[in-house]
Amino acid sequence: MRMYDLIEKKKTGKVLSSEEIRWMVLSYTKGEIPDYQMSAMTMAICFQGLNEKETLDLTLAMRDSGDCMDLSGIQGIKADKHSTGGVGDKTSLALAPIIAALGIPMAKMAGRGLGHTGGTIDKLECFPGFTTALSEESFIENVNTIKIAIAGQTANLAPADKKLYALRDVTATVDQMSLIASSIMSKKLACGSDVIVLDVKTGSGAFMKKREDAKALAEAMVRIGIGAGKKTSAIITDMDQPLGNAVGNSIEVIEAIEALSGRGPEDFMEVVYALGSKILVLSGAARQEPEARQMMQECIACGAAKQKLAEFVKAQGGDASYVFDTDKFEKADETFLVCATQDGYVQSIEAKAIGTACMTLGGGRETKDDVIDPAVGIYLVKKRGDFVQKGEPVAYIYANSKEKGDAAVWQVLNAYSFGEKEVESVPIVKEIIDGVI
Ligand code: URA
Repeated sequence: MRMYDLIEKKKTGKVLSSEEIRWMVLSYTKGEIPDYQMSAMTMAICFQGLNEKETLDLTLAMRDSGDCMDLSGIQGIKADKHSTGGVGDKTSLALAPIIAALGIPMAKMAGRGLGHTGGTIDKLECFPGFTTALSEESFIENVNTIKIAIAGQTANLAPADKKLYALRDVTATVDQMSLIASSIMSKKLACGSDVIVLDVKTGSGAFMKKREDAKALAEAMVRIGIGAGKKTSAIITDMDQPLGNAVGNSIEVIEAIEALSGRGPEDFMEVVYALGSKILVLSGAARQEPEARQMMQECIACGAAKQKLAEFVKAQGGDASYVFDTDKFEKADETFLVCATQDGYVQSIEAKAIGTACMTLGGGRETKDDVIDPAVGIYLVKKRGDFVQKGEPVAYIYANSKEKGDAAVWQVLNAYSFGEKEVESVPIVKEIIDGVI
């Protein structure tokens, strides 16, 4: 096979065979196809697209380019959840313990934050001693014994995607739907769970700004999941404003603990219940979503979910006493107030700007190697639709430097817009894309 011929074939709108795609991906991973040929291919794909079968073939080839987790040693139907990333998205921290407490094994790989979006690993590391660097044996043993483990992605997980993504990033070929869907799903499939539930965010703070793009991505990923033999569903959720009230690292962990104590913000709980009920139905633990929701609510009310979080933190080396005494989390030195500039309703809170303000404080990473400050963050007292009076605080900023705190005050204030018009509430879950095999 010659890469030249495959580029020509895709350039002229023809369909690549499974063998051609597999050969191309594996040869590229081994360094046998140069970047210039692969970038010609990705650009041809941008113009000609990939059909459903080609997209699945590309995903499976990338999945198979490196290590795949073998979860066969874990009893039961294993579940995983993925979010396309947002601001204030601490969903996994609450969802995973609830699902595990209900007896469904949660075997999850998570990532760190980059840019304006946060990452689950950074948040979990707010518990002193907590580690996601688990061996495959400990990962499997923890899921078997306490039904939950969250690990960092191994270095050799879908290496073809790592290489291809870096190439797409510098050749203006990131924003092609089949390439995005196969990139995300190759990593999810390599993690080996039976049930995959996806949270595709849409809005100003999301990777997919437009609702129709989020829907196309969700559909493409669900088709891939099903094609690969997994029970897969997606929900499309609003990321026009941050999720919940807390944005930062330990402040988000505290909000997740509050959620497991029955005091979670409404929008956040809605996302947790929507994703969780999908997992419970797809894994066969509940027949229907109302029943699943009730199971989750009872699990929180009786304290089992919070207890599971503590068990999980302890099993991964963390200090579980923080779960029961959140005052122990490290605090930032200074608190700054952001106050409303006029009477009226909060019309919008630009999520990306809030994420960027958190990065200014040191709570997020501009580059992969930045060290984050877990104690800083932003607490949004007022959300979209709330009435405020001029001078009333709309947000608190927790900072470890006056200069950074002052800069963040302006960023957060500029993220808010106020107006006289009452704001219609929009559902946080915009759409559900189902697919059961
Ligand atoms: N995230 C990924 O993992 N891959 C993409 O292509 C885009 C976002």
